[in-house]
Amino acid sequence: MAIRIIGTGSALPEKTMTNEDLTRLVDTSDEWIRERTGIGTRHISTGETVVSLAAQACQHALESAGRDASEVELLLIATCTPERGIPCAACQVQNELGAAQAAAFDLNAACAGFLFALNTACAYIEAGIYQNALIAGSEVLSKIIDWTDRSTCVLFGDGAGAVLVERCEQGGILAIAQHSDGNKGAVLQCDGRELHNPFVDVPATVPYVRMDGREVFAFAVRQVPSCIQEVLGKAGLTAGEVDLYVLHQANKRIIEGISKRLAVDLDRFPMNLDRVGNMSSAAIPVLLDELNREGRLREGMTLVLSGFGAGLTYGACVLKW
Ligand code: UT7
Repeated sequence: MAIRIIGTGSALPEKTMTNEDLTRLVDTSDEWIRERTGIGTRHISTGETVVSLAAQACQHALESAGRDASEVELLLIATCTPERGIPCAACQVQNELGAAQAAAFDLNAACAGFLFALNTACAYIEAGIYQNALIAGSEVLSKIIDWTDRSTCVLFGDGAGAVLVERCEQGGILAIAQHSDGNKGAVLQCDGRELHNPFVDVPATVPYVRMDGREVFAFAVRQVPSCIQEVLGKAGLTAGEVDLYVLHQANKRIIEGISKRLAVDLDRFPMNLDRVGNMSSAAIPVLLDELNREGRLREGMTLVLSGFGAGLTYGACVLKW
């Protein structure tokens, strides 16, 4: 039994914001942002929501697979910026799509969320509980960013990407790994609502993302290559046998560091972060959809997907396209 990706989709907010635009908000420059991160522009919501973006990306994934929403059995949304506490974004997307048969729930593993959701879907399908799953990573990070903090506001963008996976006879996903290190949670965090009940009333504050960028950078360059080696080992492959590395798009220099550690040419690491920034859980499926639509994914190709982020969390997956 195997599981393969049979459709991809993505959706981005209409409005774009350039590095030049950011220089009017904080003390930064196009040169600094490009040199230190590789980012040039990002899409920022002026009304699009985690649900509307995810629903659009999911619809495109269904169309690209030639399937109808009514056939979906499991619907997972990876997000750390849901619209509501309850109901979860996945139930709202289910309603928008008319995926009446699907069991739907959200999963938050921050920027590694898409990979954790993919692994969850695979476990359900391997256990024989479901035949297929629609999985999206969707984020409107712009609402939890402190737009006066130059060390974070230049990095992130909004968007959603989705894949449809289905049970198949052979090929597809060869190995997946996922890991968490809660001990390092403080290096990248955003608080939730304060305690408010008849016994305790903490004055409400507006929570924003706070990050120790250098710590996250070092963690990514250290852990992502070892996680990739772990899945390659499970699949009996070497780093050189992989055609494309579809990695979380956080920073061009992180991707360069990973390519160096794996001793694989950078041209096997496609990037779109110059146009979209870091979209957390949406980054990997959006890039995958772009590559798919550009015709860069040929049948039989070996791909590695890998993400990392707040938690800290990290994961990787190797698959045959
Ligand atoms: O999805 C996971 C989410 N997070 C990440 O992946 C983040 C990973 N980390 C990074 O990408 C990098 O650490 C950053 C891009 C966040 C920062 O780059 P860096 O090369 O690690 O810079 P730094 O934090 O060491 O800061 C260097 C200098 C500092 O000034 P001083 O102290 O040397 O005077 C910062 O204040 O750059 C300054 N700086 C900026 N300058 C202009 C920080 N942000 C900016 C900015 N524009 N936007």
